[in-house]
This record gives sequence, C-alpha cells and structure tokens, in this order.
Amino acid sequence: MVTKGIVWHQGIVARNEREALLGQTGVTIWLTGLSASGKSTLAFALERRLLSEGKACFTLDGDNVRHGLNRNLGFSSEDRSENIRRVAEVSRLMNEAGLIVIVALISPLRSDRAMAKEIIGVEHFREVYISTPLEACEARDPKGLYVRARAGELAEFTGISSPYEHPTSPELIINTLETCVDSALDQLCGVIMRK
Ligand code: ADX
Repeated sequence: MVTKGIVWHQGIVARNEREALLGQTGVTIWLTGLSASGKSTLAFALERRLLSEGKACFTLDGDNVRHGLNRNLGFSSEDRSENIRRVAEVSRLMNEAGLIVIVALISPLRSDRAMAKEIIGVEHFREVYISTPLEACEARDPKGLYVRARAGELAEFTGISSPYEHPTSPELIINTLETCVDSALDQLCGVIMRK
C-alpha cells in the first residue's frame, strides 16, 4: 500500500513467532468507565497478577499516558478521540509484539471504542465495562475532580458536563461496589485467556 509516498516495509518475523516465544496471545483488555470507577486500580492489580503468573503485559492508563505521549491533548470530544486513537495504535503494536495490554481509559463514546476495536482488531479486543455508578464515583472523588466539576471549575467533565455512553455488549461488566478485587481479577483473567 502506498500513502503519500510512504511504503509499508514488510518485516520477516511473524506475530505468531513472537507469541510462541512468550507462550501467550497478544490481546488488549479495554477497561471503560467513569473517572474513579476503579479502572486503574483493577488494571494495575491485573498487571501484577499476570506478571506473577508468568505473562508479559503492560498497562496503558489514561492519566499516565496523558503525562507523555498524549500530553498535548485535553478533554474536548476531538482530543478524547485522538487520545483513544493513539492508545489503540500503541496497544496494537504491543499486541503484535506478543504482549497482553490492559487499557484503562474513560473512553466515553461508543464510536471511539468502535474505532479502537477496529484498530486493534476484533479478535484481539476485549471490552470490559467498569460499571460503578456515578454517585459512588463522585463519593470516592480521590482527586477532588468531581467537586471541582460540580463547582464549574472543570469543564467537560465526564458524567457531569460531558457524556458517558456505556457499552451495549461488553464481554464483562464489573461494578466495584459489588465485586472485590480478587474476584474481579479472576473474571478479567478469564476474559484474557478466552480463545
Ligand atoms: S478519555 O475520556 O480521553 O478516555 P482519560 O481516561 O484519558 O479520558 O483521562 C481521564 C482522567 O483525566 C480522569 O481519571 C481524571 O483524572 C482526569 N480528568 C481531568 N479532566 C477531566 C475531564 N474533563 N473529564 C474526565 N476526566 C478528566
């Protein structure tokens, strides 16, 4: 394929060779949900568990990625879309390298998550909805952002002044009010290992 004078250079190492080396399939487990719903907590705990089981994995967390790769992006719908696109592209590369990737992004819009699924590939994309209700997220408010959003100091805050569209057919739903971390990790591992 030729785009603007750029030609794809085909490598000579196949994805399945990389996966065979690691003894695993490179998939992306995509955690979507409101701020403070528990995405990052679960993502990092899952990373810990997978590592201890001998699996090579990496977490792409929204707040963290916004410190570097996506530091030039804000929270308009266009910027969120670009945030999600870049994370999906990185995730795809990591999957091709054989890694299990855990993404923790609010990723509020169905259209943006559909784009991520398209980039990563249907067979490698596993969507998980962290369904902790808004009232609970707002009560937790670990960074004081909901208070600021309610006070009108933070514009376009998801769930308050910016929309969140829950997934219609996620592979798994976890409400962190009802599910303890260990049980959530068991369920998440089940989704990752599914063929
Ligand atoms: S996303 O919508 O583009 O997927 P992302 O997951 O990267 O969002 O970043 C969300 C984090 O940014 C939140 O956990 C919160 O700490 C912080 N944040 C700052 N401003 C906002 C805002 N307006 N809406 C949502 N989250 C915000």
